[in-house]
Amino acid sequence: MRFSKICVIGLGYIGLPTATVFAQHGVNVVGVDVNKHAVETINQGKIHIIEPDLEQAVAQTVAQGSLKATMTPEAAEAFLVCVPTPFKGEYEPDLSYIQAACQSIAPVLQKGNLVVLESTSPVETTEQMAKWLAEYRPDLSFPQQKREDSDIRVAHCPERVLPGQVMRELIENDRIIGGLTNKCSQAAANLYRTFVKGECVITNARTAEMSKLTENSFRDVNIAFANELSIICDKLNIDVWELIALANRHPRVNILQPGCGVGGHCIAVDPWFIVHKTPDLAKIIHTARLVNDYKPQWVIGKVNEAIIAASQKTGKGVADIKIACLGLSFKADIDDLRESPALKITAQLADKYPNQVWAVEPNVTALPQKLIDKNIELVALNQALQQADVLVLLVEHKEFKSASITNSNAVVVDTKGIWK
Ligand SMILES: NC(=O)c1ccc[n+]([C@@H]2O[C@H](COP(=O)([O-])OP(=O)(O)OC[C@H]3O[C@@H](n4cnc5c(N)ncnc54)[C@H](O)[C@@H]3O)[C@@H](O)[C@H]2O)c1
Repeated sequence: MRFSKICVIGLGYIGLPTATVFAQHGVNVVGVDVNKHAVETINQGKIHIIEPDLEQAVAQTVAQGSLKATMTPEAAEAFLVCVPTPFKGEYEPDLSYIQAACQSIAPVLQKGNLVVLESTSPVETTEQMAKWLAEYRPDLSFPQQKREDSDIRVAHCPERVLPGQVMRELIENDRIIGGLTNKCSQAAANLYRTFVKGECVITNARTAEMSKLTENSFRDVNIAFANELSIICDKLNIDVWELIALANRHPRVNILQPGCGVGGHCIAVDPWFIVHKTPDLAKIIHTARLVNDYKPQWVIGKVNEAIIAASQKTGKGVADIKIACLGLSFKADIDDLRESPALKITAQLADKYPNQVWAVEPNVTALPQKLIDKNIELVALNQALQQADVLVLLVEHKEFKSASITNSNAVVVDTKGIWK
């Protein structure tokens, strides 16, 4: 079956590119968002998020009438749920956005429809979504009631695109598709084959949910291993970068690089969905989260030591030491500051050393208000290299890798090992 009309619920970093790519491939797409500004911006052919090549595609599909944004869902053949799945309090997954999305699509659901959950979700959320839909539409049957004879098909299809490469990866990446039944999986695979050139690999919903969480937990655990090594090596006076390079000469060893912590909205979040579900069993996954979350505090401890060393070296009082934090984003060469450990470290240093902290971030033109309020100043790299007493390298941006610090008198805390 070919889908002619779909509804995408949630038009953020995932939903908007997905809606747009469907619209580029001949599907009539209604995008739904509760954010009025987002809806209005999209209907003007513009975008409210940053993603290369997206704006042009939105402009084109809105102009040709294949994409429109609204605040209320319309009847369609398929519904894709792309709303946020953050956690609340002590790492409890917050599924309220998914429940709200179910409430909004329930009135327009019709026999034969497919509902796909794209949001990164704890195991069993797709089943929960089907239960909510059944509760709101008791006149329709769902897979948990009628299995392959259900009126509505329900599946999970997690998203694993890389920000900055979304428009290409959406098309080229393989997709994991987990239906609540085989017919649900087949219907969802048909939908994604509209534009996916990668393989649409079919499994069940729980495995699909777990596969996305596993991918990010794998990264988290391996980064935690590197971060733990960096702390051990510092204590034992061993150069961790040399150590890792040597160990990686083993043909079956591939240790990742340590850093100042783990950020972003996926790797630092998704492992908690596994820990929350199976707290007694997810021991390594839990510990990895704690190790990575501790690393910024450890870096701040190293900066405290560097400030004392700089004070002794220069004869200045501690309150006169200038600290330059190099890099604010959550990884190299991007402008995304969300959940960034580098940003957190910079902010905490400014709390402890008011009016002494400079930030260097070549990928932004202005600091977030939160940092401005702490009197942190955005300065050029040269100024930091020439005038700071302490340099704290937090992110390995290309500008920093190519900079020379041989003429700098600063005491250096290099969390990425680029200036050895
Ligand atoms: N951003 C990524 O790189 C990425 C990658 C893989 C997976 N994911 C996952 O995809 C999901 C969406 O992430 P995102 O980055 O697109 O989030 P986002 O915050 O950029 O976008 C979510 C959008 O949903 C809207 N929304 C919230 N509740 C709604 C409702 N009831 N009805 C309609 N719209 C609603 C919000 O206004 C927002 O525009 C999350 O589960 C996330 O973990 C994100």
